[in-house]
Amino acid sequence: MLFQLSEEHLMIQKAARDFAQNDCKPGVIDRDETQSYPTEQVKQMAELGFLGMMVAPEYGGSGLDTTSYVLAMEEISKVDASSSVIMSVNNSLVCWGLETYGTEVQKQKYLVPLAKGEKLGAFCLSEPEAGSDATSQRTTAVDMGDHYIVNGTKNWITNGGKASIYLVIAQTDREKAHRGINVLIIDANAPGVSRGLKENKLGIRSSDTHSIMFQDVVVPKEDRIGEDGFGFKFAMKTLDGGRIGIASQALGIASGAYELALAYSKQRKAFGKEIANHQIIQFKLADMATRIEAARLLIYKAAWLKDQGQDYQRAAAQAKVVASEVAMWVTVEAVQIHGGYGYVKEYHVERLMRDAKITQIYEGTSEVQRIVISRDILR
Ligand code: CAA
Repeated sequence: MLFQLSEEHLMIQKAARDFAQNDCKPGVIDRDETQSYPTEQVKQMAELGFLGMMVAPEYGGSGLDTTSYVLAMEEISKVDASSSVIMSVNNSLVCWGLETYGTEVQKQKYLVPLAKGEKLGAFCLSEPEAGSDATSQRTTAVDMGDHYIVNGTKNWITNGGKASIYLVIAQTDREKAHRGINVLIIDANAPGVSRGLKENKLGIRSSDTHSIMFQDVVVPKEDRIGEDGFGFKFAMKTLDGGRIGIASQALGIASGAYELALAYSKQRKAFGKEIANHQIIQFKLADMATRIEAARLLIYKAAWLKDQGQDYQRAAAQAKVVASEVAMWVTVEAVQIHGGYGYVKEYHVERLMRDAKITQIYEGTSEVQRIVISRDILR
């Protein structure tokens, strides 16, 4: 067992850290306040190869491993979790599934521009009445022989207003339950596709979240991924990897808040000394550092299992549930250490606290992760 990052990993970590500090940090408070999409940052992530990190070079990607992706996600999330979720969805929820299960034609047509960052993707699973209970899809994909007709609404779709390619999970045969679900590639500009208003969110406010409506959208059969009825398993397998990405986002949010609290505690004085010299603050810092390290190890393990081609379903769920709970706890403590300063925007920690909450909700709530873990234990 080697608890050491390779030279290449350290280089990627540094590149992501430099990008986050130099290019994401300026304006991050304002983008959050005004819910402005990080257009420049997304462009730079494309140039750095961060939008198709794990995709093979022959399909326009960077050909890196999951550990590299985790390291980059952590560094960017320390500063700007809105930019990192855009990256995470494109990498884990869109590119991965296309590369793993797509046909050669689908890869050339859709994966290559997505991996290069020339286009952005979105993963359309959640619905007004189907979030955790992913088999209860109301969106239908009626089989018309050589094509499907898609009708329905998808909610809370990250990248919804900016993506040009949607992977849409839809029910074709309700009687077959989860075996009657398909995943279809749908062009965002196809006739019958429309977008609802941008959501006004608690956190990750500069990421772009919309409802997407499909009305009699014609989708040729060649744009279905996998065999008929593969959609539910596709979604589950895709989300397993997505959860490693979101766990890394949570880790970054937690470490970002911890680093700010640590620095603040060394310069802020109270009762005649720096607050870092008060035991109550020292214990908080010790707990923050320890929980962050525990989350990091679970994430690295999940990433390692994935790269080894081993089963990582349980490990990904464990990493996500722990990292997201750590992120929530650490960010609340970071605000507390900052006192009144923590409650105002200039000090960043209130934003990180708001951003942390979504990591317990999307790509499977903490409750869903516990379902996944307990089923695996009892299997
Ligand atoms: N890999 C492969 N197959 C899997 C699987 C996995 N990880 N998980 C389940 N399956 C298979 C099962 O083996 C079973 O197959 P068989 O019938 O052939 O045996 C089938 O799928 C059905 O499985 P379950 O009976 O376990 O399904 P369920 O209906 O009880 O649901 C669940 C289980 C874990 C709760 C699942 O519905 C789930 O993960 N829900 C959460 C969905 C989610 O994460 N939504 C987030 C939306 S996306 C998002 O947030 C994106 C964004 O914008 C950031």
